[in-house]
Amino acid sequence: GKALRVAVAGLGTVGAGVVDLLARNRDLIAARAGRPIEVVAVAARSKNKDRGVDLSGMAWEEGALALAKRNDYDVLVEVVGGSEGQTVEAVEFALKAGRPVVTANKAMLALHGARLGQLAHDNGVALAFEAAVAGGIPIIKALREGLAGNQFQRVFGILNGTCNFILTKMRQEKREFVDVLAEAQRLGYAEADPTFDVDGIDAAHKLSILASVAFGSPTNFDAVHVEGIRHISALDISYATELGYRIKLLGIAGLTPNGLEQRVHPCMVPLDTPIAHVEGVFNAVVAEGDAVGTSFLQGRGAGAGPTASAVVSDLIDLARGHNVPAFAVPPAAMKALPAAPM
Ligand code: HSE
Repeated sequence: GKALRVAVAGLGTVGAGVVDLLARNRDLIAARAGRPIEVVAVAARSKNKDRGVDLSGMAWEEGALALAKRNDYDVLVEVVGGSEGQTVEAVEFALKAGRPVVTANKAMLALHGARLGQLAHDNGVALAFEAAVAGGIPIIKALREGLAGNQFQRVFGILNGTCNFILTKMRQEKREFVDVLAEAQRLGYAEADPTFDVDGIDAAHKLSILASVAFGSPTNFDAVHVEGIRHISALDISYATELGYRIKLLGIAGLTPNGLEQRVHPCMVPLDTPIAHVEGVFNAVVAEGDAVGTSFLQGRGAGAGPTASAVVSDLIDLARGHNVPAFAVPPAAMKALPAAPM
């Protein structure tokens, strides 16, 4: 069949990972998608930086918006990140031009998801975001497809790899927070601004997206109660261990009699639950549904490979002609409760 032509905005860790994966698994991806998927254009600030991927034959633009304005692509992949400015404009431009968008941008979706979802809907195109939550865990597709028959009671998990890495190392090596944070930054898991990781903001972005998909509420980041891991000491962790717990930063979305509750904070997790044993940069999500019971998914939540894996899965959906819904807007959308501690 005719190739699906992809424009990739952003050639950082994730963007380069997407270009690399599409090239490396080219034939099997084409077989599964029913047609080839080709990157025809990219946007990145510097043209000649070595990213370890072959960009020959691809057009180059300096900015995401200029890329979005091109006429020679079918899908925009947005992996620049950031919730303001040109990135959002580029996504809006593509959607208004009737071109689907695949994004890994959790901050953008947490803050503008309701509006962008509406824009996608109005223009009859997809806004796909498997990569925005828990990287390599296909949780968006799981909630919408494999578990789609369930009324969810609670969806929760470890949604930030950097925090889980830090908490794991603090326990295993009896080190303090600041010391391990520097290591996580060197490994490239942390956000450009690690405040987003350690203060729970990144996990809250992802939680508001998960909650929207699971409960049919518009994304409402302001409704998430957020607390991070800065104040946790190696001593806290060793006490928790003695008592039979792990300290984990969890994002929890659940139904209460009054509406949807969303919160991110460190939790004492008993050692006899599977999520207590999710260590290092791994993420995990637990979905509690009325039919399935408890379903547990684990995988890598950050880094080039896992995030590219999710982006490419969305591209394959689009190449197959599946209509990927943006955000569900059921007849009576669930109202989010205001942010409040437990
Ligand atoms: N900084 C994020 C994390 C990257 O550590 O989980 C993936 O969103």
